[in-house]
Formats: sequence, structure tokens, C-alpha cells
Amino acid sequence: MPATATQTLAERYTAEFAGSKQRFESAKGLFPCGVTHDARMMEPFPVYITHAKGAHKWDVDGHKLTDYFVGHGSHLLGHGPDDVVKAVQEQMAKGTHFGACHDLEIEWGELVRKLLPSAERVRFTGSGTEATLMALRLSRLYTGRAKFLKFHGHFHGWHDYVAVGADYPYDAPGVPGVPDAVASHCVAIPPNDLNRVEDTLKSDPQIGAIILEPTGGHWGTVPIRGPFLKGLREICTRHNRLLIFDEVITGFRVSPGGAQAFYGVIPDLTSLAKILAGGLPGGCVAGRADVLAFIEPRPGKPKMRHPGTYNANPLSAAAGVATLKRVATGEPSTKANAAGRRLRNKLNELFESRDWPWVAYGDFSMVRVVSGYRGARPSTSAGDNDCLVPFDGDVNKLDGPKNMKQFYALRQAMLLNGVDWWGFAGMTTCEHTDDVIDHTVTAFEASLDLLNAEGLS
Ligand SMILES: Cc1ncc(COP(=O)(O)O)c(C=O)c1O
Repeated sequence: MPATATQTLAERYTAEFAGSKQRFESAKGLFPCGVTHDARMMEPFPVYITHAKGAHKWDVDGHKLTDYFVGHGSHLLGHGPDDVVKAVQEQMAKGTHFGACHDLEIEWGELVRKLLPSAERVRFTGSGTEATLMALRLSRLYTGRAKFLKFHGHFHGWHDYVAVGADYPYDAPGVPGVPDAVASHCVAIPPNDLNRVEDTLKSDPQIGAIILEPTGGHWGTVPIRGPFLKGLREICTRHNRLLIFDEVITGFRVSPGGAQAFYGVIPDLTSLAKILAGGLPGGCVAGRADVLAFIEPRPGKPKMRHPGTYNANPLSAAAGVATLKRVATGEPSTKANAAGRRLRNKLNELFESRDWPWVAYGDFSMVRVVSGYRGARPSTSAGDNDCLVPFDGDVNKLDGPKNMKQFYALRQAMLLNGVDWWGFAGMTTCEHTDDVIDHTVTAFEASLDLLNAEGLS
């Protein structure tokens, strides 16, 4: 239906995406909030997708959408790469679950060990959440200390131990549904303050490990850079605590060896998922042999039990092997990072030329936009990890409460302009070519005009 001048943004969205609206009416009574993942909640309703390829996906109403969700970060090669599809199809025909060991799990584990500098040994899990659960339990066994330190806004999955400090307000007492006795094992502090880290470790000898997203919480909303990582490594070594990098997003994305290879900082343990399994479910913990040894039965030592029906399942292994072989060439992360940089630069040029108080920032293939900003902008020559951080990295400004009206309006407007943009952020893949990025910038301009018309920019 053609848009009319008097239609609001939400009315235009509702009319254009009628097939999705119809499906959401059924889903509402079935699923809480009508969706199956919190990040898919959308006002007035989410889009329903039928298929995807490369940098694009198509919805039930026939729209071709440039995708910046990229499988919640699990695609670095774009949707449906031919080599990965072929590997999974061939494995599907051979069997999906043998309840037994198989060749592909060895090939998969060897690739992880080849790419990730810290990986002496590897244990596969069913998801990233399971991987951080395992890493923390191993740290307790190894250090004999029950607690761990994490940073405000850092997301490590949804198990009880890591729920503290993940969402704003970061120092709120208690997490709904998480027993206080469990939550009290997590100490959460703001990121990027090494003195505070050291003081916290000194004041609490029960803290055995530090876990973090190595490029910053919520994939770089408040960026973390090399000096902080190096400082953490030094502090952990000096105080004999374990350093855990949660590279569920950054692993294989930032560089073939993740953030640890890029920054040259070797953690004791690493949690991985997403790209690891090439867009299928799967995760792992990789790291020091003497820490992973707690999974083995040894005389006089406690053994950590680790079952898990879908650990290293053959389909995920097939997708993971095909994906990591491509990752190993270095080309996918180089291309995705270049696409992210182009998008940040072009968006900042746009915001500047239209005198819009928005700024784009981020590192590697991760891009964020913030409104209400009139300060300096990142320079176009900024590299993968040195762009200016708006608001001096203030966690409350960059990762504080969101203007949800503006958030949903931007999402609706971008969808109306052919882009599925992840609220105030997005990730690129090696399929996000210059043309794709330039189309996205045009969509942003049209979308911000729509937001302006509703007084929401
Ligand atoms: C940094 C990080 N850690 C852990 C997880 C949890 O992974 P999964 O969703 O596979 O359980 C996520 C998921 O988005 C993540 O971004």
C-alpha cells in the first residue's frame, strides 16, 4: 500500500509489514512477548523472515533486507555460505548424532587450537552460556576461590552466576529469579579502571577469576582496548587469579585468533560460540591444559562432571570446520572489519553534513550509533581499535537506559528503508560489500528524516 503524507511511522510500518503483523497475532498468545529471544522484542511487532543469503534476508512480505543482526553475531561469512551449506548437507545425510566420538570433532578442535593463541586444550559445549558456566566452574576448582569479578554491561549468557551487572542499572541489588547466595559470588565493577580492579582483588581474596568481553561489554558498547587487557593480564598473574576472555562474539571476528591474538594478550581460559559453530548451535572452552585437566579423573583431585547431549554434535562440527577453514585465511575478518570501518566513517560524514547530533563509533566489525551527542567525532583514519569513544567512555551514557521510543522508531524506519538494523548497533560480515554499506547509509539518511518528522531524532 503506498504511504500517505499523514501516516505515522508506526502506521506505515504496520501497513508495509502486514504479513509479519498477522503472524505476531498468533505468536503473542503462544510465546511470552510473542518472541523466542529477548532481543527479538519489537514494537509494534517483529518481522518474520523466510530465508537469507549473503548480507541479506527476506521477510514474509517479500522485502529484501540488509542484515546487521547476522545471526546474533554468529555469521562472519554472511548467510548460507556455499561451502558451509554443502558440509552440513553432506553431514546431515550421514547422521546428526552418533552418541559417540567422530572425526569432525577432532578436526574442529584442532582448528580452534591452531587459530586461538591460548588454546592448549578444548572442550565443546552446547552454547556460549554453557561455555562461561564451565569456565567459571573450572576457575573455582583450579583456584579454590568461589567468587569472580566481572564488569558492568558485560554479557556472558543467561545462567545465574553471570546475570549480575549485565544490564542497567548495573549496581541494582538482586537479579529477578537469581538466589542472593548465587549472585553474591559475582562482584561487578565499572570497566576500564585498573586501580579499581586491583583494589577489589586485594579486598576480596575469594575472587578467583576475572571474566570479560575483551572488546567491551555488549560487544564494545563501552570499548576496551589493549592497555586495559594487558593490565588485567599483569594483575591476574601477580595475584595468581585466572583471566577469562569471553570471546563468544569476538572470537574469529576481530581477527582469526580473536581479540587475544589482535592485542597479544593470552588469557587462561576462553569461552567461544557463534562463529565457532558456523551459525549452528555450539560453544567451547579453550585454554590452559592444567585448568581443563579438572575435567579429567585424576587420583586425589576432584573431577568436574561435564555431560551435554549436543557437545560437538556432528552438524555443528561440520559447519564449524568449514567456517574456521575460511576464517583461517584471514580474509573474512579483514573484509568484515573494513565494512564496519566504512559504515562508521560514512555515517559520521552523513551526521556531520546534516548537522544531526548523532555519532557512529565502534571497533572492528561492530558499529554503534548514539544520539544527543555534539562532541568530537572519530576521525576517518581511525584503525580497527583506536576510534574515539564518545562521552569519554561513560558507561551510563553509552550503555545506560535507552530511549525505547527512539530505538523502535529507528528500527521501523530502517526496515521501511530495507535494512534490519539492530536497534542502535549492528555487525558486518565479509559479504557487506561497499555497495551494501552505501545503501545502508542512504537508508539511515531517509530513516533519520522520518524520525525528525516525528520529533524523535
Ligand atoms: C559475549 C557473550 N557471551 C556469552 C553469550 C551466550 O552465548 P549463547 O547465546 O550461545 O548462550 C553471548 C550471547 O550473545 C555473548 O554475546
